[in-house]
Amino acid sequence: MARSQKVAPKYLQQVNSALKRNGYPSKSKFGEHVTPSLSTVKNFFAGKPVDFEYFVEICQKLALDWQEVSDKKTLPQNTTIAIQETSSFITGPPITHPRRFFGRERELKRLFQILKRHPLQNAAIIGKRRIGKTSLLHYLKNITIVPKNELRQQQKSNWLAHPEIYNWIFVDFQDSRMSSRENLLNHIIENLNLKIPTPCDLDKFMDVVSDNLRNPTIILMDEIGVGLQRCKELDDEFWESLRSLATNHTGGNLAFILATHESPSELAQNTGHSSPFFNIFGYTAHLKEFTESEARELLASSPIAFPEEDVEWILEQSCCVPILLQILSSERLFSLEEGESGEQWKQEGLLQMKKFIHLLDKSQ
Ligand SMILES: Nc1ncnc2c1ncn2[C@@H]1O[C@H](COP(=O)(O)OP(=O)(O)OP(=O)(O)O)[C@@H](O)[C@H]1O
Ligand SMILES: [Mg+2]
Repeated sequence: MARSQKVAPKYLQQVNSALKRNGYPSKSKFGEHVTPSLSTVKNFFAGKPVDFEYFVEICQKLALDWQEVSDKKTLPQNTTIAIQETSSFITGPPITHPRRFFGRERELKRLFQILKRHPLQNAAIIGKRRIGKTSLLHYLKNITIVPKNELRQQQKSNWLAHPEIYNWIFVDFQDSRMSSRENLLNHIIENLNLKIPTPCDLDKFMDVVSDNLRNPTIILMDEIGVGLQRCKELDDEFWESLRSLATNHTGGNLAFILATHESPSELAQNTGHSSPFFNIFGYTAHLKEFTESEARELLASSPIAFPEEDVEWILEQSCCVPILLQILSSERLFSLEEGESGEQWKQEGLLQMKKFIHLLDKSQ
């Protein structure tokens, strides 16, 4: 994404139609939902160079495959090329592949303890912006089914005795399609491989799910706060029905896991909802920094080993906050790959860390 070349019309068409398809009326509206600045967003849509991490984040938000999109960007349509190398450190988008996921051992033990027993129970994941909530949801969904050869050596994956019987459904409320009740219900039914009723209203949805749900099913809801604030169709009646589905009609086979900045009941209150749905979350995982040994494991995953004094410096500066560890590691790795001597990587790393400095404030 670093070079500026002639942009393929196919690319422009693909990204602009993805914008519309995802319900964003304009690029500036879309810009409010992603980390990069509006000018970066505009560059992306114009096919101009954009930092790799932002390119991937924007593609993910538009439900586009970034490799496919970047292929289409500048090359003739009948040429295919794929980026073979994968990033060792990821500094922005959520971690989607479990191989790149580190830490959270305590929270994972608790969450899987709840999920491996009948009846399933509900849980909430709470933490500051950028602390790792979405990454944890992706990990839960993928770790038990990803082939062993795609994981790190010794990486734990046998959390469930029978992972094959579980259904995992990911709902991202930042995806504007999820603000429509019908779309959301469709999405859940589709992922359960059940026949979608017409019309797919709340009553029919309840009937179909309670009649057919036999296997343990976990609905992961990311950015639930956005759902509550923006989606008028997702009203108290809607949430009460979901609660009653989970507690009374699915034989203990349905659970919800929410990711949010504040506790579910506070969230409901602050957004004018009174629904008892938000009181069913027995276990709450409060995401904070990694333990030192989790942070060391992440640093040790570098393809070029870091000198011991650099490991100590990164641990100290990052206070073991995952995104800060990733940023400093990424700078250190780059300098080692380029054969640079000196400490310029430290300055660069500290500069890159600045926009996430709120994560070091322990008082919040
Ligand atoms: N378990 C993890 N292992 C490795 N890196 C992580 C982990 N969790 C988070 N990170 C780092 O933190 C970044 C942000 O993660 P993520 O998007 O999951 O956070 P979030 O809490 O969902 O953020 P937001 O509040 O903006 O939605 C990732 O790009 C990655 O650098
Ligand atoms: Mg997130």
